[in-house]
Formats: sequence, C-alpha cells, structure tokens
Amino acid sequence: MREQEVSPDRLRQVMRHVPTGVAVVAAATPDGPVGLAVGSFVSVSLTPPLVGFFVAHASTTWPVIEPHGRFCVNVLGEEGEDTCRAFAVSGGDKFAGVTWRPSPAGSPVLDNALAWFDCTTNTISDAGDHRFVLADVHDLSVRPAGGPLVFCHGTYQRLGNGPTTDVKGRV
Ligand SMILES: Cc1cc2nc3c(=O)[nH]c(=O)nc-3n(C[C@H](O)[C@H](O)[C@H](O)COP(=O)(O)O)c2cc1C
Repeated sequence: MREQEVSPDRLRQVMRHVPTGVAVVAAATPDGPVGLAVGSFVSVSLTPPLVGFFVAHASTTWPVIEPHGRFCVNVLGEEGEDTCRAFAVSGGDKFAGVTWRPSPAGSPVLDNALAWFDCTTNTISDAGDHRFVLADVHDLSVRPAGGPLVFCHGTYQRLGNGPTTDVKGRV
C-alpha cells in the first residue's frame, strides 16, 4: 500500500537525487540544424547496437527530427553547461554560436561532445507524458580525454575524483 500519493512534485523531489548525463539530440534538416537536450539517453542493446532516450510530448523539436529519422546523440563533456542550457529551451536559433561538423551520416556532431552516436530511429513507443525513442547506432566515437557533464540536484556538475577504476577500452 502506498504511504503517500506519487505526485509529480514528489517524484521530481526524489528523482533530483538521481544523476544523469546530458546529451543533445541533433539533426541536420533541409531548413538547418535542430536539436534538444535530453538527460534520458541510455544504452539499450549491444547486439544489435541500440540506444534510446525519452522525449516529452511537449517537445517542439522532436516533431521536426522524427520525420527526418536520422540524428546524432551528442553526450556533452564537462565544459558543455552553456550548450546544454542553449538546447534546453524551446524556440530560437539554438545553434547560434555552437560549432559543429557533420557526422559520417551528415548529422551534427557538436565540438564539445564527449561522445557521439550516429543514429536512425528504430521504433517509438508511448511512455506516459513522454515517448521512448529506440535508435539503431551506425557509427560512434569518443574523444580521448575529459569527463562528462552530469546533472544532479538541479545543477550541472562534473565527476569529482574521476573513475573508481581505470577507464579501459576507449574507442
Ligand atoms: C538536464 C536536462 C535534461 C533534460 N532531459 C530531457 C529528456 O530526457 N527528454 C525531454 O523531452 N526533455 C528533456 N529536457 C527538457 C528539454 O531539453 C526542454 O524541454 C527543451 O525546451 C525542449 O526543446 P524543444 O521544445 O525545442 O524540443 C531536459 C532538460 C535538461 C536541462
């Protein structure tokens, strides 16, 4: 039996203690590059290579990316706070002042991406007030140095003391 109602506020108050990385899902459309910030990027499957993220029904950018079907997930490095803020708003030219280059498939790879994943949409399923986007990974890379941007307690953070074990197998 539930002791208290699971209200949106209570869920938010508890979830703010759960750290996430931050990624920018970006696409190069005929009208120019578009993107939005997500904290829900997750590895799903190794064979086949699948990743995913949740996108709110309220997103104004995802409906532009969805018919395109091709995008790059840019996991931000620890210097990427301003970039995250720029992509966590609706409207405006989010790419103003953002430097990027095309991925092998032509999607935007941001200069301050720690890692990037060249993706196409596999399936989209309902998930409450969000939808879950499952994506096929066609190419990916990670830069050789620097840590991830972390979002926790409502603020941007970097990992304090580095990994508890050596990071092996960077590609
Ligand atoms: C740290 C952080 C994580 C976020 N994670 C998500 C997410 O996983 N899914 C989502 O739809 N929005 C997420 N947002 C909110 C969107 O970035 C925000 O609603 C943005 O305005 C959407 O832009 P759009 O309307 O251009 O799509 C996050 C914002 C921040 C700051």
